[in-house]
Amino acid sequence: MDYDFSNKTVVLGVSGGIAAYKSVALASLLKKQGADVRVIMTKNAVEFVTPLTFSSITGNRCITSAFDTDFEWEIGHISLAKKTDVMVIAPATANIIAKLAQGIADDMLSTAALAMTCPVIVAPAMNTAMLQNPATKKNLRTLSEYGYTVTETAKGLLACGDKGEGRMLEPERICEYIGAAVCRKDLEGKKVLITSGGTREWLDPVRYITNCSSGKMGYALARAAVCRGAQVMLISAPTTLETPLFTEIINVISARDMFGQVKKRYQNFDIIIKAAAVADFSPDYVAGNKIKKPVESNSTEDAAGQEISKTDDGFTLNLTHNPDILKWLGQHKSSEQILVGFCLETENLIENAKQKLQNKNADIIAANPAGVENSGFGGDNNTITLVTHDKVTKLESMSKFSAAHKILDAVCQELSQRLSE
Ligand code: CTP
Repeated sequence: MDYDFSNKTVVLGVSGGIAAYKSVALASLLKKQGADVRVIMTKNAVEFVTPLTFSSITGNRCITSAFDTDFEWEIGHISLAKKTDVMVIAPATANIIAKLAQGIADDMLSTAALAMTCPVIVAPAMNTAMLQNPATKKNLRTLSEYGYTVTETAKGLLACGDKGEGRMLEPERICEYIGAAVCRKDLEGKKVLITSGGTREWLDPVRYITNCSSGKMGYALARAAVCRGAQVMLISAPTTLETPLFTEIINVISARDMFGQVKKRYQNFDIIIKAAAVADFSPDYVAGNKIKKPVESNSTEDAAGQEISKTDDGFTLNLTHNPDILKWLGQHKSSEQILVGFCLETENLIENAKQKLQNKNADIIAANPAGVENSGFGGDNNTITLVTHDKVTKLESMSKFSAAHKILDAVCQELSQRLSE
């Protein structure tokens, strides 16, 4: 995970469920991302994990009682609430959920939660029947109405041995909620369309041509845009990545599939970011059956009756041009829409990026060099240079998530420039 929670105080409320062990990992993750983590445990939570575990991980004494005054930091629930940027209750049992829905404050966790004026995230964890009990469902609805953010739960094997809905989300996913809660909302009301990943161009039912794109840059952009309040749709070529929180996803395979989806939808968006590594070519003929090695003749017919040129010496594959989606968007976008493209090069990066900016009528090109450390395909970092019509801004190497924020900063700058014109 790559959030920057430095200068953020996160209060982690732990109530008494077996998922409390996962909250230890959550506390550790938050701490690694720079947060000042303050843990409050209920009396029952202490039965599952010791307060010492949380104190050791966070470097802050774990709070277990509203009447414990032996602290180096003033922890009265009101002063705690004033210092807090976000509170997350994970796991949230049916009991704490019911208490919050009723406004009951009878221990440090419920009292602090009630006093919070910052965003409060509730991550339920309980047995499926308890989760589906009408009382719990009603309480969760009430919390949402009161402005709490209630996370979804995961399906799987529960501590009671049942299988079903009710597992607490993984710490990484809860971090996404926290990231969204503490981020500035400068893209509120904006609709962002992002394409991502490397397209696959089929040769036959079992083979395709593709590239090394992992999709990480596009997914980081989606996550960052969601954090900043945008409504995000991701048109994604195949990837193993988890769909970012609050993101609508359209899965595609080939460049032509991607083009079809983009053409159908692009008009509904304010900002379009083409992070996908679109294959420039695809085989001009896709065999209906698996292409076999030549046996006797130097030419074989596949089941569809099409000739594929094969000899003992090799195999000739004819490729045809795929549509250039970014270029098409540049020709069809409205004057209000902002179009961002990428440029991946092994040489002449800035020169090529400037050309792509012009040729494809984009507003911003994020140029990244291929084949160098901390940049381009596959890794978690990128080294981008932002090329716009009036300037070239070279950025240092950073996580793809931070790079995504820099790209969105440039988009916001472009938006405010247009407003002032
Ligand atoms: N792109 C696209 N459709 C294509 C090829 C590229 O939309 N068929 C977009 C990419 O998503 C990226 C930008 O164009 O935003 C530049 O892609 P890149 O691969 O760097 O360059 P190409 O346009 O493919 O040109 P070349 O391969 O000659 O560098």
